[in-house]
Amino acid sequence: MSETAKLSLQGKEVELPLIIGSENEVGIDISNLRNDTGAVTVDVGYKNTGSTTSAITYLDGEAGILRHRGYSIEDLAENATFLEVAYLLINGELPNSKEYEEWDYQIRHHTLVNEDMENIFKAWPTGSHPMGQLTAMISSLSSFYPESLNPNPSEEEQFRTIRRLIAKMPTIVAMLHKKNAGHPIIYPKNKLDYVSNFLNMTFKQVTEDYEIDPIFVEAMNKLLILHADHEQNCSASTVRIVGSAHSNLYACIAAGIAALWGPLHGGANQKVIEMLEAIKQDGGDAKKYIAKAKDKNDPFRLMGFGHRVYKNYDPRALIIKKSCDDILNKLGVKDPVLDIAKQLEETALADEYFIERKLFPNVDFYSGIIYRAMGFPVEMFTVLFALGRLPGWIAQWKEMRDQGQPIGRPRQIYTGYTKRDWTARALR
Ligand code: ACO
Repeated sequence: MSETAKLSLQGKEVELPLIIGSENEVGIDISNLRNDTGAVTVDVGYKNTGSTTSAITYLDGEAGILRHRGYSIEDLAENATFLEVAYLLINGELPNSKEYEEWDYQIRHHTLVNEDMENIFKAWPTGSHPMGQLTAMISSLSSFYPESLNPNPSEEEQFRTIRRLIAKMPTIVAMLHKKNAGHPIIYPKNKLDYVSNFLNMTFKQVTEDYEIDPIFVEAMNKLLILHADHEQNCSASTVRIVGSAHSNLYACIAAGIAALWGPLHGGANQKVIEMLEAIKQDGGDAKKYIAKAKDKNDPFRLMGFGHRVYKNYDPRALIIKKSCDDILNKLGVKDPVLDIAKQLEETALADEYFIERKLFPNVDFYSGIIYRAMGFPVEMFTVLFALGRLPGWIAQWKEMRDQGQPIGRPRQIYTGYTKRDWTARALR
């Protein structure tokens, strides 16, 4: 097979080297294109652009494959703990028993946040969206730990910030939940494992005992793993590009959270439940909404359907769908929106419009139903996505810094006016 691609451009021939991935993916290296030809490539939305090489996550959207560091998402979701997956993503290997013990200990013993962080809540109006609050809280960690502002942290300093982020994020997320409900916050209990501690801080009331349900622990662990990384998506690319300016890691993660908030990305999980509720209130006619989604004059989109890279089933959606059934059965919850979700899915999967465009349910289609059954308010769904995605963002940031990548700065093709002369206001 040829190791180069040939480009013929305005009478000039250039040879472009190929970069072949470990799964035989082919990339055309255009890093010298502008120097050699004066031209740039245009790829709005980066649908054909590899922004980096990466050894973290392999995704084959046509075959419905997702692997982290070589391990299939099915294996990880079935067997691992979320902390184990976080370690794998960030360090490249699964931890052995000793490494896991040490990692778990480090995380368990850094769960408290500075008491002053509670003051930040005083400034927010009631009803503030927790994703905006999470962005601000994570960014504010750079004020509590100013040493993180060092643009070239040593490995030890890097690890300290990583450990703080992973350990404190569940505390912050639970705090958001409590504060927005007007309830007193519950402090972390370090004898509990990561997921149990989070559930305890979220659902325990100061006035009541709380027994952590192992079904909840299992479900939450799986959901966090399924969201842990997804290669160069909108938020991960945001983290990498902000990090390429050597901004501190807290700021990079805050930027990732902001990107995730959008309804076309992580914000879809909230929108899915709102859509299913609206359909239920409108009589539960799935076919009517499928017709709306297909109508080009109607801005309605079927939330939780379609994906930029999966043009086959999203493997995470398959795992989640099964968990959703299991959990609702185990909890004895009968959620009418689940029936609507199933009707929508069945109708869409048999419809030419969706088949032709390869639009399948994505991970967000069922996650909200599980979160709801567990008792999370709908505004918290994207926050939970962020909690799961944190190790992926960290791994992407770390890889980008370890690779010594230059600042991200795309080019453009200018389409505005050519030079014009100034005219006096009275003459315009
Ligand atoms: N409902 C109806 N039609 C859709 C949908 C949908 N959910 N998604 C895509 N389409 C149609 C588009 O109208 C377009 O049709 P056309 O070719 O006739 O113009 C075609 O399918 C291709 O869609 P694009 O928007 O070009 O696909 P893109 O890759 O840019 O977008 C995206 C992917 C943003 C996820 C899109 O499918 C979408 O908006 N889905 C709903 C939101 C959602 O669920 N987001 C979560 C994604 S998963 C995640 O972030 C974890």
